[in-house]
Amino acid sequence: MSDFLRIVEVGPRDGLQNEAIPIPTEAKLEFIRSLRAAGLQDIEVTSFVSPKWVPQLGDAAELWPQLPADGGHYSALVPNARGLDRALEVGVERIAVFTAASEAFVQKNLNMSIEESLAGFRAMVETFRQQRPGGWVRGYVSTIVECPYAGRIAPEQVQNVVDALLAMGVDEVSLGETIGVAVPAEIERVAEAIAHVPKDKVAWHFHDTRGTAIANVAACVAQGYRIFDASAAGLGGCPYAPGAGGNLATDDLVYFAERSGLSTGVDAKALAKASEPILKLLGRPMTARAQRAVCSIADTARN
Ligand code: HMG
Ligand code: MG
Repeated sequence: MSDFLRIVEVGPRDGLQNEAIPIPTEAKLEFIRSLRAAGLQDIEVTSFVSPKWVPQLGDAAELWPQLPADGGHYSALVPNARGLDRALEVGVERIAVFTAASEAFVQKNLNMSIEESLAGFRAMVETFRQQRPGGWVRGYVSTIVECPYAGRIAPEQVQNVVDALLAMGVDEVSLGETIGVAVPAEIERVAEAIAHVPKDKVAWHFHDTRGTAIANVAACVAQGYRIFDASAAGLGGCPYAPGAGGNLATDDLVYFAERSGLSTGVDAKALAKASEPILKLLGRPMTARAQRAVCSIADTARN
């Protein structure tokens, strides 16, 4: 079993999409450059969604061409054909489509049904494969345990959507525990339902509203999963998931992984510094525990 834990950093996208204070494009680029310098290879940097729905990421087309040409795996969310066109125009090579296991959630998030979303993605993946033969596609499934509108979700509903995404040829699925309610036993039930899927095609995406994200990561690691999404400083939330807290902090994930003997390729100190300017712009305190520990150790060493 691999001792490398692959982190997909979603801070610039999931971390910022819900923030009302507009962050200048240059500050986003500086954030991304610092995340890369800290060793993060996979970074979801923005969304080509409707700027009316998510104004914070309305600068996706300006941001994309300014990304560092440094071999980083940069990706972006695309919700529909219009989003795909916009992404292709600026040279995007890695896209993420997104739906959910809950009908009510997909209605709020995409203004369509699950089936409509899947039909749209089928056509989009086909176009994308034609235009970007070496490209890469991720498929998100949100609300894998509970939906803020429909309540508990049966693991079979997750399985159905995962199977549909894999059948259309996505390279990887990311399973979103969107509102941060789940505990390991619930995640294990989802894992059982998708046990037929190769583990290197599955990422887990935990929000940490109730502080259970690391316990859920531990449960997945014990089962052999090695791909996890996280957001520097624990920034984040979904505008269409009321009550959803920030994402699992990348800082906490790196600490947990490295301390458990899994390598991540990430420098914890550089990572802790990477999100400081964004936290300042947002007027937010540092809440990720591993980040605070790293920064207070660094300050103590300086004094
Ligand atoms: P709609 O209003 O039904 O779309 O929204 P429409 O086709 O009727 O278009 C309305 C207007 O938006 C039109 O402009 C379109 O041109 C424009 P108008 O004629 O009014 O001037 N438009 C677009 N503009 C730019 N780019 C586009 C685009 N599409 C339409 N791509 C739509 C449907 C899908 C657009 C909308 O619902 C949308 O953008 N949704 C995205 C919501 C979103 O970003 N949610 C957060 C991401 S998901 C998430 O956070 C969960 C995740 O982290 C995992 C987890 O935690 O579980 C991934
Ligand atoms: Mg999310």
